[in-house]
Parts: sequence; C-alpha cells; structure tokens
Amino acid sequence: ALTDVPFGFHPAPWISPDLHDPAYLLARDFVSQLTLTEKVNLTTGTGWEADRCIGATGSVPRLNFTGLCLMDGPLGVRYTDLNSAFPAGINAAATFSRGLMRKRGEALGEEFNGKGIDVMLGPASGPLGRSPKGGRNWEGFGSDPYLAGVGMAETIKGVQDRGVVACAKHFILNEQEHYRGSMDVRIDDRTIHEVYLWPFADAVRAGVGSVMCSYNKVNGTYACENEWIQNYLLKGELGFKGFVMSDWGAQHTTLGSALSGLDMAMPGDGGPPPYRAWWGGALTEAVLRGDVPQWRLDDMAMRIMVTYFRIVSNSTSSRPSGGPNFSAWTNQTFGPLYSASNTSWVEVNKHVNVQADHAEIIREIAAKSTVLLKNSRSVLPLSSNVSSIAVIGNDAQSWNPNSCSERACIPRPGTIAMGYGSGTADFPYLVSPASAISARCSSLSIPFYNTTPNWDLPTAIARASKASVAIVFVAATAGENFVSIDGNVGDRNNLTLWDNGDALIRAVASVNPNTIVVLHTPGPVLLEYAATHPNVSAILWAGFPGQESGNGIADVLFGDVEPQGRSPFTWAAKEEDYGPVDIVYKAEDPKNPSQTFPEGTLIDYRWFAQHNLTPVWEFGFGLSYTRFSYSNLQVTKMLIPEPLELKKETGPAPTFGTVSKNLSAHAVPEGFQRITPYVYPWLNSTTGFITSNASISDFPASARNGSSQQILPAGGGEGGNPELYEVLYVVTVEIENVGKRKGVEIVQLYIQHSQTSPVVVLRGFDEVPLNPGEKKLVALPLTRRDLSNWNTDSQNWEITSDAKTVFVGASSRDIRLNASLPL
Ligand code: NOJ
Repeated sequence: ALTDVPFGFHPAPWISPDLHDPAYLLARDFVSQLTLTEKVNLTTGTGWEADRCIGATGSVPRLNFTGLCLMDGPLGVRYTDLNSAFPAGINAAATFSRGLMRKRGEALGEEFNGKGIDVMLGPASGPLGRSPKGGRNWEGFGSDPYLAGVGMAETIKGVQDRGVVACAKHFILNEQEHYRGSMDVRIDDRTIHEVYLWPFADAVRAGVGSVMCSYNKVNGTYACENEWIQNYLLKGELGFKGFVMSDWGAQHTTLGSALSGLDMAMPGDGGPPPYRAWWGGALTEAVLRGDVPQWRLDDMAMRIMVTYFRIVSNSTSSRPSGGPNFSAWTNQTFGPLYSASNTSWVEVNKHVNVQADHAEIIREIAAKSTVLLKNSRSVLPLSSNVSSIAVIGNDAQSWNPNSCSERACIPRPGTIAMGYGSGTADFPYLVSPASAISARCSSLSIPFYNTTPNWDLPTAIARASKASVAIVFVAATAGENFVSIDGNVGDRNNLTLWDNGDALIRAVASVNPNTIVVLHTPGPVLLEYAATHPNVSAILWAGFPGQESGNGIADVLFGDVEPQGRSPFTWAAKEEDYGPVDIVYKAEDPKNPSQTFPEGTLIDYRWFAQHNLTPVWEFGFGLSYTRFSYSNLQVTKMLIPEPLELKKETGPAPTFGTVSKNLSAHAVPEGFQRITPYVYPWLNSTTGFITSNASISDFPASARNGSSQQILPAGGGEGGNPELYEVLYVVTVEIENVGKRKGVEIVQLYIQHSQTSPVVVLRGFDEVPLNPGEKKLVALPLTRRDLSNWNTDSQNWEITSDAKTVFVGASSRDIRLNASLPL
C-alpha cells in the first residue's frame, strides 16, 4: 500500500568529508575558492545546443575549469562519426557474462574518452522492462533486477575505469514512453526496493558518478523533485556520493528540485523568465534569499567536483586536451563556436577515430548474446553438408542504416541492429546477415540465394522451396517517444513482428522443412506458432547486436561460436499472460495520467510462476549445441561475520567559502558579452530579487536543516548497509559437459524466499566453458541482501524466518537441483 511509503524526508543528504580521499581534498580546495555564481555555474547546463555536447555545464575560467561535456548514450557515442555502434544493453545482458559486460563498458569508456567527453549518459536500468512493449527496454539489461544490477555494475566499472563518468538512468519508474513527462507512478515501498531500486543499488555500490532522474512522477511528485526517491532512497539509504542530473527538461521548479536532491539541471534552459532557467540566476537568488542554504549549493558543487576529480582528471587513460573534439550538432568540420548562436566559426569536428579494435568485442558479444530458442532435429550448427541456403527477408539485407535520423526508419529495407531514439549511435558500417552468410557459403562452396521483399510471399515461397535450408530474418523495433515509426510512439503497439514478418515465417515454413528463424527484436514477440511448427527447425533471438550483426549471427549459425545467450525476459504465448502490465496508451485523465503497478514485485517470470502460466520460453532459457549435467549441489554456511562498526550520524553539513550578501557582487562582470541562448548564473537585477519564492511555504524548516542527521537503518555505505553484501552462504555445484561439442553453460541460482509462494528469483549465475567430458565445480555466493526481503515497518532488509530453498539450473524453470537453506 502507498501508505507504506515514508514521506517528509528532508534535508537532502550531503557527502560527508572524507579526508583520506584525494578527490575529496582536491574538490574541497577547488570549491572553497569559488564565488556563489561560479558554484551555480557548475550546477546548471549552459542551454540546449549552446555548447558542443548534448549537455554541458558552465565553466570556471578563472580556475581553468572548462565545464563538463555530457553525451548519449548507452550503446555508443551519439551524434558523431568514426565511433562504434555496440550491441545494445539487452544483448550484453543476454550473454550472462560479467566479463563481456565489463569489456563492453571499457570499450565504450575508451570511445567517450577519446572524443573528450566527461560523462556518458548510460547505462540504463530504467525502464527495467515491466511491460514487454516498453519502448526503451532494449537500452537496459532485461527485466530481472539481479541481472540488470550486474549489467549496471560491470558497465559502470568498465566505463569509469577509462576516465569517463557513467550515468545510471532513468531514476526511476520511467517504465513507459507514453505520457512519460506527466505519468504519476503509484508504487509501494516493497516493490520499489525489491525490483526497481535494486539495480540502482548495484550501480551506486559500483561507484557510479552520476544518476539521471526521470521525466515521470512518483507517488504524486516529479522524480527530479522527489524527496523520497532522491533524498531518502538514493542519497540516504543507498549512500550515493555522486551527483543527480535531471533528464532533459525533467526539472520543474527551483526550490523543489534543489531541496529534494537534484544537483545538476539539464540542459539548463527551459525554465520561466526572467532567467529562462529554473536554476542559473534563479538559483543564485534562492541562495541569497536563504531559501536554499549555502550548504546545499556547496554539496551540489562538491558532488560534481569530487566525481570529476575521482574519475576524469585522475584517469590514467590519455585524454584529448581542449575538451570535446566534435560537435553533436553538425557533421561539418567547421561551425559556430557556440552552436546555437551566431558566433565566429571554428573547427568543431576533428573527426577523431575512436573505434580501435572494438569491432572484435562487438562481434564476440553479438555472437554470444544470440539465444538459441529452438533447434529441432539439430539443424544447427550448419555445416558444409548443407546443399543450399536461402536467406529471406528485408531484415537480412545491407542498407544505409544511418539514412534516417535517430534510427526511426520508414521504410526499413535492411537489417535492424539497434532501436530508435537517444539511445542510438551512428553506425560506422553495418555487416548484414545476408553478406556475412553469403561469404560463409562461398568459402564452404554452398550455393547461396538471397530474397528480399517481405510482402512478396510468392517469391519467398518459390525461393524457399528450392533451397535445402531457408533462413528467415524478421524484426520489430522500439524506442523513445520523441520519434515514432508507423504510429509506435516509442512503446511498441503490439507484440507481433513488423513488416509482414509472421506471414513470411509461415509462408517459408509451409514449403521448407529446414526453416530457421532469426529475430532482431527489442524484446519478446508472440511466436508460439513458430515454436510448435514442425518445419521451423530452429529459432534464434539476436536482439540488437550492433555493427557486427551479420558476422555475429554467422558465427553461431555455422558453429564457430557456441551459443551461450540466455533470454533476459520471458516469451509468453499470449500477451495477457504477462499480467496487468500493459502500457497506458490512453489515460483516463490525459492531463493527470497515473498508473499503479498492481502486480507488485511479480513482473516477468515471477508473474508466470505465481499464476502457474507456461511461457513459450522462459527467462534464463537458451539452448546449446551440447548438453550439460548438474550434480552434487551443496550449500555451505559461512561464519557469521562480526557486526560492522557503522557510523550512526552524518555529522553537520559542511560549507566551503563564504557568500557575499551584497547583490552587486553577483552581477554580470562589466564588459562581459552575453551569447544569446546561453544560461548564466548572474543576477539580472542588483536592486532586489526578481523571482518568486512563493513555494517556500511548501517546505518544512527541516528542508534547510544542516545539522547532523541519523543514518538510515538500511544505509551506511555505497549501495546501502555494507553488511548487506556479506556472503552468508556459498552454493557449489558440479557441471559436466555430457555432449560431443565444447560449449558454455550458464549456471543459474534462484532463491525461493518463502514456501507460501512458488516464485523463485535469480540470485546468482556463472558462465562455465567446458570441453566434452569436462567437469567443473562452480561456486556461487549468496549475500545477506540476496536472502532478504524489504520490511516496510523497520525500513530495513530482513531475512524472514520463512524456510528458504536454493534452486540451481539452466533457466528459471529448468531447475536441476535444489536444497533447503540451513538457517
Ligand atoms: C532524454 C532521454 O530520456 C535521456 O535518456 C537522454 O540522455 C537525454 N534525453 C539527452 O539526450
């Protein structure tokens, strides 16, 4: 119930002094020298298209700080050239490989760093994927919070290790694109903790430098102004020490955002006159008036600068000097110094190639994320014995995938390898399945035929009936709501294939007994007919694999890479089976749309388990070309660790430097030439305040209270109470490859928290490569957090007294062994 949710959490938590942290000391020295307007300048974007990047903060020229450059997105550098187009987050998740997730993060970090970018706007675990039709699910790591948390942590560590600040987004509950700017999500305390907040806890524990608050409202208040989610959950309970930036235009007030935990306004403009910004000069006024205490502004500046000194300036990765070496706003080499203004022209695009050898990891992930969903009569892997191969469908073809902006393409004459919206990048090239398979066929001397038009079924049938194997490529896509395709405004309108795909599969399968279906989709589609069709011998989900798409799928089809992908979501036989999670396409009250999440924690496979529904393919499912056996499950209880000595209080909020009360000290410096769309921190008037602070009465005095605060019961470290991460049990199991080929098993560990519900939840996995006949012992740790449920009364995690069972298997339903947990 919503009454579970604690309200009235003020003030916004500050980062405690850490005198052992060199980054803290550098930031303290830096921020202590700043004037009020210089501090405000760090917190406020310079305005839409004012600088070279999708977002930029103000600078401090006096101290040679040029400001921060922020760029999308989660699968590559957007709006530039000579970058790579990586597999989407959903593919990284499907590998179930921590190593590949980390390497992808490192390669992403290298590309952002090479372009002179300070902050990468990713990874995403919001949306998590509550609704299978959610437009941006593919940007993240699937609809299980545990898997998404691993994806977040590994990506963040990889990116930040290369000197670029990662940004965990979108915080939080932005589960659909329709009405995203006004949707009020009514959520209960347990569901947010056990499902939607979980991956963000992993992000904070991994040391993420920034978090982006989302467009929607949570329990009545906009996310970026929401004291419960920002002050209480993120900075209080999770102990987040970085900075919170708004999604672009997601800030709606000066005081509400400042007092409720926002640290950086993006893109900075878009507020009301006279400042055209909610912050900038308006925040300077709010601080001078005392509505926003100096410590709160100082904490914003400290959070930004500690992060900068910790991750960017401290980096050992060589960094191009002089800031970003490209402009997001033009492909031309020369352009205006400040892009949206009529300033002198300079070289804005240096066309720096940052791709290095990243094609290799991209291809490896493309192959290893492919999920083999069906392989009857072992039609795969293909060998040189095949007498001929026909590739069928638009989605196999070469084309210029950059021909449409934001990848929102109409028509789509070629293969789809990413979704649409801000989570995209330009392709340097795109290897199509047709070209990669044709190359294989010619090296193996297999006759190869290619047929394109999805709507021309007679031609497809004629071709399919003449080939011994017919590979049909079909697709669907999804994206962000500022662009749409065929009336799909971000969220998908249905769960069927696009461009006549289902009819194409049926047509080909009607004549060819070796029909292989390859899917490029952002998530599940309804495919029960294909799963049960005797002529559809194999089905593979390839997701959105990025620039090496064709090579990756050919590697799996021909058996050069063993399929190890496992589905990061459930494939239902019919849409209703997902439960009450449909997208709100038409709100009852379109001015104040709201939604509850009646399914609570039971999304995706949990819903299926609770309601005894059989999916076509379940979460965690994926076949291999070999077989594995599981034996000898053991659960070992570890010594109960000594309770940690944790701080009980935060200590008072520190301030850095002093603020002059004299208004003229904060005026625009004499002789300064303003550039028109730029947002500035200076006062427009030095004779009095010109913004209204009427809303200050909405905030209790405690919102401005900088005295020492109690640390929350579930808090005390980054990611929450450090005791949550203590390993209490280790589960061991032996895995043997009992087939004839080498292969990789993804061993999965699930926990049943209570015997009163059939629901099991993922709490561990490992990637186990094995040669035929080889056997390995796999150890999977279980932490206190893994075994806990959220207790709304104590506001803490607790291991309930309910008996708990450990399940180990090859998917969320293919459980091979179980044991009860010795309590
Ligand atoms: C809005 C999107 O929701 C966010 O993901 C993106 O980073 C910003 N726009 C900037 O493009």
